[in-house]
Amino acid sequence: MANVTVIGAQWGDEGKGKVVDWLASRADVVVRFQGGHNAGHTLVVGGETYKLSLLPSGLVRGKLGVIGNGVVVDPHALLEEIERVRGQGLAVGPENLRIAENAQLILKVHAALDRAREAARGERKIGTTGRGIGPAYEDKVGRRAIRVCDLAEPETLAEKLDELLRHANALLVSLGAPTFARDDLLAELLALAPRLLPFAEPVWQRLDEARRAGRRILFEGAQAVMLDVDHGTYPFVTSSNTVAATAASGAGIAPAAVGFVLGIAKAYTTRVGAGPFPTELTDATGQLLGDRGHEFGTVTGRRRRCGWFDAAMVRQAVKVGGIQGLALTKLDVLDGLAELRLCTGYRLGEETLRHVPAGQRAQAALEPIYETLEGWSGSTRGARSWADLPAQAVKYARRIEELVEAPVTLLSTSPERDDTILMRDPFEG
Ligand code: GDP
Ligand code: IMO
Ligand code: MG
Repeated sequence: MANVTVIGAQWGDEGKGKVVDWLASRADVVVRFQGGHNAGHTLVVGGETYKLSLLPSGLVRGKLGVIGNGVVVDPHALLEEIERVRGQGLAVGPENLRIAENAQLILKVHAALDRAREAARGERKIGTTGRGIGPAYEDKVGRRAIRVCDLAEPETLAEKLDELLRHANALLVSLGAPTFARDDLLAELLALAPRLLPFAEPVWQRLDEARRAGRRILFEGAQAVMLDVDHGTYPFVTSSNTVAATAASGAGIAPAAVGFVLGIAKAYTTRVGAGPFPTELTDATGQLLGDRGHEFGTVTGRRRRCGWFDAAMVRQAVKVGGIQGLALTKLDVLDGLAELRLCTGYRLGEETLRHVPAGQRAQAALEPIYETLEGWSGSTRGARSWADLPAQAVKYARRIEELVEAPVTLLSTSPERDDTILMRDPFEG
Protein backbone atom coordinates (compact mmCIF):
# COMPACT_ATOMS: atom_id res chain seq x y z
CA MET A 1 0.00 0.00 0.00
CA ALA A 2 1.48 3.31 -1.07
CA ASN A 3 2.09 6.28 1.17
CA VAL A 4 1.01 9.70 -0.10
CA THR A 5 2.82 13.03 -0.15
CA VAL A 6 0.81 16.22 -0.63
CA ILE A 7 2.56 19.35 -1.90
CA GLY A 8 1.43 22.73 -3.23
CA ALA A 9 1.84 23.23 -6.99
CA GLN A 10 1.57 27.03 -7.11
CA TRP A 11 2.46 29.73 -4.55
CA GLY A 12 0.73 28.23 -1.51
CA ASP A 13 -2.82 28.24 -0.09
CA GLU A 14 -4.05 25.79 -2.72
CA GLY A 15 -6.16 23.93 -0.16
CA LYS A 16 -3.55 21.45 1.06
CA GLY A 17 -5.08 21.41 4.57
CA LYS A 18 -8.52 20.46 3.31
CA VAL A 19 -7.13 17.72 1.07
CA VAL A 20 -4.82 16.34 3.78
CA ASP A 21 -7.69 16.31 6.27
CA TRP A 22 -9.84 14.43 3.77
CA LEU A 23 -7.11 11.91 2.92
CA ALA A 24 -6.19 11.48 6.59
CA SER A 25 -9.22 9.25 7.10
CA ARG A 26 -7.36 6.70 4.96
CA ALA A 27 -3.99 7.20 6.69
CA ASP A 28 -2.50 6.13 10.03
CA VAL A 29 0.15 8.82 10.50
CA VAL A 30 0.34 12.39 9.17
CA VAL A 31 3.80 14.00 8.97
CA ARG A 32 4.91 17.61 8.47
CA PHE A 33 8.41 17.71 6.96
CA GLN A 34 9.31 21.34 6.17
CA GLY A 35 8.30 24.94 6.82
CA GLY A 36 7.00 26.24 10.10
CA HIS A 37 4.21 28.46 11.35
CA ASN A 38 4.40 30.49 8.14
CA ALA A 39 1.95 27.85 6.89
CA GLY A 40 -1.76 28.33 7.45
CA HIS A 41 -4.08 25.45 6.66
CA THR A 42 -7.84 25.84 6.98
CA LEU A 43 -10.07 22.82 7.54
CA VAL A 44 -13.84 23.04 7.60
CA VAL A 45 -15.61 20.10 9.17
CA GLY A 46 -19.37 20.22 9.56
CA GLY A 47 -19.42 23.97 10.16
CA GLU A 48 -16.41 23.99 12.54
CA THR A 49 -13.30 25.74 11.16
CA TYR A 50 -9.81 24.72 12.26
CA LYS A 51 -6.85 26.91 11.38
CA LEU A 52 -3.59 25.02 11.73
CA SER A 53 -0.06 26.31 11.25
CA LEU A 54 2.34 23.82 12.78
CA LEU A 55 0.15 20.92 13.77
CA PRO A 56 -0.28 18.21 11.13
CA SER A 57 -3.80 18.41 9.68
CA GLY A 58 -4.40 14.72 10.41
CA LEU A 59 -4.86 15.50 14.12
CA VAL A 60 -8.40 16.65 13.37
CA ARG A 61 -9.14 13.08 12.22
CA GLY A 62 -7.68 11.65 15.40
CA LYS A 63 -4.56 10.38 13.62
CA LEU A 64 -1.02 10.39 14.96
CA GLY A 65 0.68 13.65 13.99
CA VAL A 66 4.44 13.90 13.54
CA ILE A 67 6.52 17.06 13.21
CA GLY A 68 9.65 16.01 11.34
CA ASN A 69 13.23 17.25 11.65
CA GLY A 70 12.83 19.42 8.54
CA VAL A 71 10.29 21.67 10.29
CA VAL A 72 11.34 24.83 12.15
CA VAL A 73 9.37 24.94 15.40
CA ASP A 74 8.51 28.14 17.26
CA PRO A 75 7.78 26.76 20.74
CA HIS A 76 5.44 29.61 21.70
CA ALA A 77 3.47 29.27 18.47
CA LEU A 78 3.24 25.52 18.92
CA LEU A 79 2.01 25.68 22.52
CA GLU A 80 -0.51 28.40 21.67
CA GLU A 81 -1.83 26.40 18.75
CA ILE A 82 -2.18 23.30 20.91
CA GLU A 83 -4.18 25.33 23.46
CA ARG A 84 -6.34 26.83 20.72
CA VAL A 85 -7.34 23.52 19.15
CA ARG A 86 -7.86 21.98 22.58
CA GLY A 87 -10.37 24.79 23.08
CA GLN A 88 -12.16 23.49 19.97
CA GLY A 89 -12.44 20.05 21.53
CA LEU A 90 -9.42 18.30 19.99
CA ALA A 91 -7.25 16.19 22.24
CA VAL A 92 -3.56 16.95 21.68
CA GLY A 93 -0.84 15.40 23.81
CA PRO A 94 2.28 13.27 23.57
CA GLU A 95 0.07 10.26 22.76
CA ASN A 96 -0.97 11.73 19.38
CA LEU A 97 1.72 14.34 18.61
CA ARG A 98 5.42 13.54 18.28
CA ILE A 99 8.15 16.04 17.47
CA ALA A 100 11.55 15.16 16.06
CA GLU A 101 14.19 15.65 18.75
CA ASN A 102 16.47 16.98 16.01
CA ALA A 103 14.00 19.57 14.72
CA GLN A 104 15.26 23.09 15.24
CA LEU A 105 13.64 25.89 17.16
CA ILE A 106 12.63 29.32 15.94
CA LEU A 107 13.59 31.87 18.61
CA LYS A 108 12.34 35.42 19.12
CA VAL A 109 15.62 36.65 17.73
CA HIS A 110 14.77 35.01 14.38
CA ALA A 111 11.47 36.84 14.07
CA ALA A 112 13.21 40.09 15.02
CA LEU A 113 15.82 39.56 12.30
CA ASP A 114 13.18 38.63 9.74
CA ARG A 115 11.26 41.85 10.39
CA ALA A 116 14.33 44.08 10.58
CA ARG A 117 15.59 42.72 7.27
CA GLU A 118 12.25 43.21 5.57
CA ALA A 119 12.10 46.80 6.83
CA ALA A 120 15.64 47.39 5.50
CA ARG A 121 14.68 45.99 2.08
CA GLY A 122 12.00 48.67 1.76
CA GLU A 123 10.45 48.58 -1.74
CA ARG A 124 12.28 45.36 -2.51
CA LYS A 125 10.85 43.42 0.41
CA ILE A 126 9.87 39.77 -0.05
CA GLY A 127 6.66 40.06 1.91
CA THR A 128 7.61 37.32 4.38
CA THR A 129 5.25 36.29 7.15
CA GLY A 130 7.69 37.94 9.62
CA ARG A 131 7.81 34.77 11.69
CA GLY A 132 11.52 34.14 11.55
CA ILE A 133 11.47 31.30 9.04
CA GLY A 134 14.37 32.54 6.87
CA PRO A 135 16.77 33.42 9.72
CA ALA A 136 15.98 30.09 11.46
CA TYR A 137 16.89 28.04 8.39
CA GLU A 138 20.02 30.17 7.93
CA ASP A 139 21.13 29.26 11.46
CA LYS A 140 20.47 25.59 10.75
CA VAL A 141 22.73 25.59 7.70
CA GLY A 142 25.20 27.79 9.60
CA ARG A 143 25.37 25.07 12.31
CA ARG A 144 24.28 27.45 15.05
CA ALA A 145 20.71 26.26 15.51
CA ILE A 146 19.13 25.32 18.82
CA ARG A 147 17.35 22.00 18.45
CA VAL A 148 14.55 20.47 20.49
CA CYS A 149 17.00 17.99 22.08
CA ASP A 150 19.16 20.88 23.38
CA LEU A 151 16.37 21.75 25.82
CA ALA A 152 17.39 18.66 27.79
CA GLU A 153 21.03 19.85 28.05
CA PRO A 154 21.20 23.26 29.79
CA GLU A 155 24.96 23.57 29.33
CA THR A 156 24.81 22.84 25.61
CA LEU A 157 21.95 25.29 25.33
CA ALA A 158 23.94 28.08 27.00
CA GLU A 159 26.99 27.52 24.79
CA LYS A 160 24.95 27.35 21.62
CA LEU A 161 22.97 30.47 22.49
CA ASP A 162 26.25 32.37 22.91
CA GLU A 163 27.35 31.37 19.45
CA LEU A 164 23.97 32.03 17.88
CA LEU A 165 23.69 35.48 19.46
CA ARG A 166 27.22 36.48 18.52
CA HIS A 167 26.03 36.20 14.95
CA ALA A 168 22.44 37.44 15.31
CA ASN A 169 23.17 40.44 17.55
CA ALA A 170 25.85 41.71 15.16
CA LEU A 171 23.28 41.63 12.38
CA LEU A 172 20.62 43.29 14.54
CA VAL A 173 23.02 46.10 15.44
CA SER A 174 23.82 46.68 11.77
CA LEU A 175 20.08 46.85 11.06
CA GLY A 176 19.51 49.31 13.90
CA ALA A 177 17.31 46.85 15.84
CA PRO A 178 17.44 45.93 19.56
CA THR A 179 19.68 42.99 20.53
CA PHE A 180 18.95 39.97 22.72
CA ALA A 181 20.55 38.89 26.00
CA ARG A 182 21.76 35.30 26.33
CA ASP A 183 20.44 34.83 29.86
CA ASP A 184 16.93 36.00 28.97
CA LEU A 185 16.67 33.53 26.10
CA LEU A 186 18.20 30.77 28.20
CA ALA A 187 15.71 31.30 31.03
CA GLU A 188 12.83 31.41 28.58
CA LEU A 189 13.85 28.18 26.85
CA LEU A 190 14.50 26.34 30.10
CA ALA A 191 11.05 27.34 31.31
CA LEU A 192 9.50 25.95 28.12
CA ALA A 193 11.52 22.72 28.20
CA PRO A 194 9.20 20.69 30.48
CA ARG A 195 6.24 21.48 28.24
CA LEU A 196 8.02 20.56 25.00
CA LEU A 197 10.28 17.64 25.86
CA PRO A 198 7.43 15.15 26.48
CA PHE A 199 6.64 15.41 22.74
CA ALA A 200 10.24 14.85 21.59
CA GLU A 201 11.62 11.59 20.25
CA PRO A 202 13.62 10.13 17.36
CA VAL A 203 10.60 10.18 15.04
CA TRP A 204 12.53 8.35 12.34
CA GLN A 205 12.28 5.22 14.50
CA ARG A 206 8.54 5.55 14.88
CA LEU A 207 8.15 6.10 11.14
CA ASP A 208 10.38 3.12 10.40
CA GLU A 209 8.22 0.96 12.67
CA ALA A 210 5.04 2.30 11.08
CA ARG A 211 6.40 1.52 7.67
CA ARG A 212 7.43 -1.99 8.56
CA ALA A 213 4.02 -2.64 10.11
CA GLY A 214 2.38 -1.64 6.80
CA ARG A 215 0.83 1.56 8.22
CA ARG A 216 -0.08 4.29 5.78
CA ILE A 217 1.88 7.51 6.09
CA LEU A 218 0.63 10.81 4.71
CA PHE A 219 3.26 13.53 4.29
CA GLU A 220 1.78 17.03 4.50
CA GLY A 221 3.69 19.71 2.61
CA ALA A 222 3.51 23.40 3.42
CA GLN A 223 4.02 26.32 0.99
CA ALA A 224 4.47 25.18 -2.61
CA VAL A 225 6.87 24.42 -5.46
CA MET A 226 6.99 28.02 -6.71
CA LEU A 227 8.04 29.07 -3.17
CA ASP A 228 10.78 26.38 -3.05
CA VAL A 229 14.15 27.89 -2.18
CA ASP A 230 15.76 26.21 -5.23
CA HIS A 231 12.97 25.81 -7.74
CA GLY A 232 10.71 28.76 -6.96
CA THR A 233 10.69 32.39 -8.04
CA TYR A 234 13.87 33.18 -6.07
CA PRO A 235 14.40 35.37 -4.05
CA PHE A 236 10.61 35.71 -3.59
CA VAL A 237 10.40 32.28 -1.98
CA THR A 238 10.39 30.68 1.44
CA SER A 239 13.60 29.29 2.95
CA SER A 240 12.94 25.56 2.67
CA ASN A 241 12.63 23.00 -0.09
CA THR A 242 8.98 22.28 -0.68
CA VAL A 243 9.27 19.61 -3.38
CA ALA A 244 8.20 16.03 -2.63
CA ALA A 245 11.78 14.78 -2.28
CA THR A 246 12.03 16.83 0.93
CA ALA A 247 9.49 14.59 2.65
CA ALA A 248 12.17 11.90 2.97
CA SER A 249 14.98 14.07 4.33
CA GLY A 250 12.62 16.19 6.42
CA ALA A 251 11.26 13.13 8.26
CA GLY A 252 14.17 10.69 8.19
CA ILE A 253 12.76 8.02 5.92
CA ALA A 254 13.67 6.38 2.61
CA PRO A 255 12.96 8.31 -0.60
CA ALA A 256 10.80 5.39 -1.73
CA ALA A 257 8.52 5.93 1.30
CA VAL A 258 7.31 9.25 -0.14
CA GLY A 259 4.87 7.20 -2.22
CA PHE A 260 2.31 8.79 -4.52
CA VAL A 261 2.88 12.53 -4.92
CA LEU A 262 -0.32 14.53 -5.06
CA GLY A 263 0.11 18.15 -6.13
CA ILE A 264 -2.59 20.59 -5.06
CA ALA A 265 -3.53 23.41 -7.43
CA LYS A 266 -6.30 25.97 -7.33
CA ALA A 267 -8.40 26.23 -10.49
CA TYR A 268 -6.94 29.75 -10.74
CA THR A 269 -3.78 31.26 -9.17
CA THR A 270 -3.08 33.26 -6.01
CA ARG A 271 0.02 34.63 -4.33
CA VAL A 272 0.37 36.33 -0.92
CA GLY A 273 3.78 37.98 -0.90
CA ALA A 274 5.75 40.02 -3.41
CA GLY A 275 7.36 38.68 -6.58
CA PRO A 276 6.54 37.87 -10.19
CA PHE A 277 3.01 36.74 -11.11
CA PRO A 278 2.59 36.66 -14.91
CA THR A 279 -1.15 35.87 -14.93
CA GLU A 280 -2.11 38.34 -12.18
CA LEU A 281 -5.42 40.15 -12.71
CA THR A 282 -5.63 43.64 -11.25
CA ASP A 283 -9.07 44.23 -12.81
CA ALA A 284 -12.64 43.41 -11.75
CA THR A 285 -12.17 39.70 -12.52
CA GLY A 286 -9.21 39.55 -10.11
CA GLN A 287 -11.34 41.29 -7.50
CA LEU A 288 -14.18 38.84 -8.12
CA LEU A 289 -11.92 35.79 -7.69
CA GLY A 290 -10.56 37.26 -4.45
CA ASP A 291 -14.01 38.02 -3.07
CA ARG A 292 -15.57 34.70 -4.06
CA GLY A 293 -12.57 32.67 -3.00
CA HIS A 294 -12.19 34.59 0.30
CA GLU A 295 -8.58 35.10 -0.64
CA PHE A 296 -7.09 36.45 2.55
CA GLY A 297 -3.90 34.96 4.01
CA THR A 298 -4.63 32.54 6.86
CA VAL A 299 -1.49 33.70 8.66
CA THR A 300 -1.03 37.28 7.52
CA GLY A 301 -4.64 38.33 6.85
CA ARG A 302 -3.26 40.05 3.75
CA ARG A 303 -5.36 40.01 0.62
CA ARG A 304 -4.03 37.44 -1.81
CA ARG A 305 -3.21 38.54 -5.34
CA CYS A 306 -5.37 36.62 -7.87
CA GLY A 307 -5.03 35.61 -11.51
CA TRP A 308 -5.76 33.02 -14.19
CA PHE A 309 -4.53 29.44 -13.96
CA ASP A 310 -0.92 29.31 -15.12
CA ALA A 311 -0.54 25.89 -16.74
CA ALA A 312 3.06 26.54 -17.82
CA MET A 313 4.02 27.19 -14.21
CA VAL A 314 2.09 24.20 -12.83
CA ARG A 315 3.61 21.97 -15.53
CA GLN A 316 7.03 23.02 -14.27
CA ALA A 317 5.93 22.35 -10.67
CA VAL A 318 4.79 18.88 -11.78
CA LYS A 319 8.21 18.13 -13.24
CA VAL A 320 10.50 19.53 -10.55
CA GLY A 321 8.20 18.67 -7.64
CA GLY A 322 7.70 15.04 -8.69
CA ILE A 323 3.90 15.40 -8.89
CA GLN A 324 2.08 12.30 -10.18
CA GLY A 325 -1.51 13.45 -9.81
CA LEU A 326 -3.20 16.79 -9.35
CA ALA A 327 -5.95 17.78 -6.91
CA LEU A 328 -7.78 20.73 -8.42
CA THR A 329 -9.45 22.90 -5.78
CA LYS A 330 -11.84 25.86 -5.70
CA LEU A 331 -13.42 25.03 -9.05
CA ASP A 332 -16.63 26.49 -7.55
CA VAL A 333 -15.04 29.96 -7.44
CA LEU A 334 -15.11 29.99 -11.27
CA ASP A 335 -18.87 29.24 -11.46
CA GLY A 336 -20.71 31.68 -13.70
CA LEU A 337 -17.69 33.29 -15.37
CA ALA A 338 -18.44 33.71 -19.08
CA GLU A 339 -14.93 32.77 -20.17
CA LEU A 340 -11.80 31.42 -18.60
CA ARG A 341 -8.18 31.71 -19.56
CA LEU A 342 -5.35 29.25 -19.25
CA CYS A 343 -1.75 30.37 -19.59
CA THR A 344 0.12 27.94 -21.84
CA GLY A 345 3.49 29.73 -22.00
CA TYR A 346 5.11 33.16 -22.05
CA ARG A 347 6.48 35.76 -24.37
CA LEU A 348 9.78 37.23 -23.28
CA GLY A 349 10.86 39.88 -25.77
CA GLU A 350 11.13 38.00 -29.09
CA GLU A 351 11.22 34.62 -27.43
CA THR A 352 8.42 32.18 -26.65
CA LEU A 353 8.90 30.07 -23.51
CA ARG A 354 7.04 27.11 -22.06
CA HIS A 355 8.71 27.42 -18.68
CA VAL A 356 9.47 29.99 -16.00
CA PRO A 357 13.08 31.14 -16.52
CA ALA A 358 15.36 31.50 -13.48
CA GLY A 359 16.44 35.13 -13.89
CA GLN A 360 14.72 37.72 -11.72
CA ARG A 361 14.33 40.32 -14.47
CA ALA A 362 13.25 37.69 -16.99
CA GLN A 363 10.57 36.48 -14.56
CA ALA A 364 9.29 40.00 -14.04
CA ALA A 365 9.05 40.59 -17.81
CA LEU A 366 7.06 37.45 -18.73
CA GLU A 367 3.92 38.10 -20.80
CA PRO A 368 1.43 35.24 -20.55
CA ILE A 369 0.17 33.49 -23.69
CA TYR A 370 -3.45 32.50 -23.14
CA GLU A 371 -5.96 30.14 -24.58
CA THR A 372 -9.58 30.98 -23.84
CA LEU A 373 -12.24 28.49 -22.83
CA GLU A 374 -15.95 28.94 -22.44
CA GLY A 375 -17.15 29.11 -18.82
CA TRP A 376 -20.19 27.30 -17.39
CA SER A 377 -23.49 28.62 -16.16
CA GLY A 378 -24.33 25.78 -13.76
CA SER A 379 -22.92 25.32 -10.27
CA THR A 380 -20.05 23.08 -9.24
CA ARG A 381 -20.31 24.16 -5.59
CA GLY A 382 -20.61 21.13 -3.36
CA ALA A 383 -20.54 18.63 -6.25
CA ARG A 384 -19.53 15.17 -5.07
CA SER A 385 -19.36 13.30 -8.35
CA TRP A 386 -17.85 13.93 -11.75
CA ALA A 387 -21.35 13.41 -13.25
CA ASP A 388 -22.67 16.41 -11.25
CA LEU A 389 -20.31 18.82 -13.00
CA PRO A 390 -21.34 21.02 -15.96
CA ALA A 391 -19.79 19.74 -19.22
CA GLN A 392 -17.63 22.86 -19.59
CA ALA A 393 -16.21 22.43 -16.11
CA VAL A 394 -15.16 18.89 -17.04
CA LYS A 395 -13.61 20.27 -20.22
CA TYR A 396 -11.68 22.87 -18.23
CA ALA A 397 -10.26 20.21 -15.88
CA ARG A 398 -9.41 17.93 -18.82
CA ARG A 399 -7.58 20.72 -20.63
CA ILE A 400 -5.57 21.46 -17.48
CA GLU A 401 -4.58 17.77 -17.34
CA GLU A 402 -3.26 17.92 -20.90
CA LEU A 403 -1.36 21.16 -20.40
CA VAL A 404 0.28 20.30 -17.08
CA GLU A 405 1.00 16.70 -18.14
CA ALA A 406 -0.49 15.14 -15.01
CA PRO A 407 -3.91 13.58 -14.39
CA VAL A 408 -6.48 15.34 -12.22
CA THR A 409 -7.10 12.66 -9.60
CA LEU A 410 -9.16 14.71 -7.14
CA LEU A 411 -11.47 17.73 -7.31
CA SER A 412 -12.56 20.00 -4.48
CA THR A 413 -15.80 21.95 -4.83
CA SER A 414 -16.19 23.77 -1.48
CA PRO A 415 -14.24 24.32 1.76
CA GLU A 416 -16.21 21.49 3.43
CA ARG A 417 -14.40 18.22 3.99
CA ASP A 418 -16.83 16.02 2.08
CA ASP A 419 -17.36 18.23 -0.97
CA THR A 420 -14.64 16.34 -2.77
CA ILE A 421 -14.61 14.17 -5.89
CA LEU A 422 -12.13 11.33 -6.01
CA MET A 423 -11.14 10.00 -9.41
CA ARG A 424 -8.26 7.84 -8.24
CA ASP A 425 -7.31 6.90 -4.69
CA PRO A 426 -3.71 8.08 -4.20
CA PHE A 427 -3.15 5.38 -1.56
CA GLU A 428 -3.70 2.80 -4.28
CA GLY A 429 -0.58 4.25 -5.98
P1 GDP B 1 -3.35 25.59 2.29
O1 GDP B 1 -2.37 26.56 2.84
O2 GDP B 1 -2.92 25.01 0.99
O3 GDP B 1 -3.75 24.53 3.28
O4 GDP B 1 -4.66 26.43 1.97
P2 GDP B 1 -5.39 27.50 2.94
O5 GDP B 1 -6.19 26.75 3.92
O6 GDP B 1 -4.41 28.50 3.43
O7 GDP B 1 -6.29 28.27 1.90
C1 GDP B 1 -7.26 27.62 1.14
C2 GDP B 1 -8.63 28.24 1.44
O8 GDP B 1 -9.57 27.77 0.50
C3 GDP B 1 -9.18 27.87 2.79
O9 GDP B 1 -9.91 28.95 3.27
C4 GDP B 1 -10.10 26.68 2.49
O10 GDP B 1 -11.16 26.55 3.42
C5 GDP B 1 -10.63 27.06 1.14
N1 GDP B 1 -10.94 25.95 0.23
C6 GDP B 1 -10.28 24.76 0.07
N2 GDP B 1 -10.82 24.06 -0.93
C7 GDP B 1 -11.85 24.79 -1.42
C8 GDP B 1 -12.78 24.62 -2.50
O11 GDP B 1 -12.77 23.64 -3.22
N3 GDP B 1 -13.68 25.64 -2.71
C9 GDP B 1 -13.70 26.76 -1.95
N4 GDP B 1 -14.58 27.69 -2.25
N5 GDP B 1 -12.84 26.96 -0.94
C10 GDP B 1 -11.92 26.00 -0.69
P1 IMO C 1 0.78 27.52 3.16
O1 IMO C 1 1.38 26.27 3.75
C1 IMO C 1 1.32 31.23 0.98
C2 IMO C 1 5.18 33.25 1.40
C3 IMO C 1 5.18 34.59 2.08
C4 IMO C 1 6.35 35.26 1.35
C5 IMO C 1 7.31 34.09 1.17
C6 IMO C 1 8.41 34.04 2.22
O2 IMO C 1 -0.38 28.06 3.90
O3 IMO C 1 0.54 27.34 1.69
P2 IMO C 1 8.43 33.28 4.77
O4 IMO C 1 7.72 33.83 5.95
O5 IMO C 1 8.18 31.84 4.50
O6 IMO C 1 9.91 33.59 4.78
O7 IMO C 1 7.84 34.13 3.52
O8 IMO C 1 6.54 32.91 1.21
N1 IMO C 1 4.56 32.15 2.18
C7 IMO C 1 3.36 31.62 1.91
N2 IMO C 1 2.44 31.97 0.99
N3 IMO C 1 1.11 30.16 1.77
C8 IMO C 1 2.04 29.78 2.67
O9 IMO C 1 1.93 28.63 3.37
C9 IMO C 1 3.21 30.55 2.81
N4 IMO C 1 4.31 30.47 3.59
C10 IMO C 1 5.11 31.45 3.20
O10 IMO C 1 3.96 35.28 1.87
O11 IMO C 1 5.93 35.65 0.06
MG1 MG D 1 -2.30 28.46 3.64
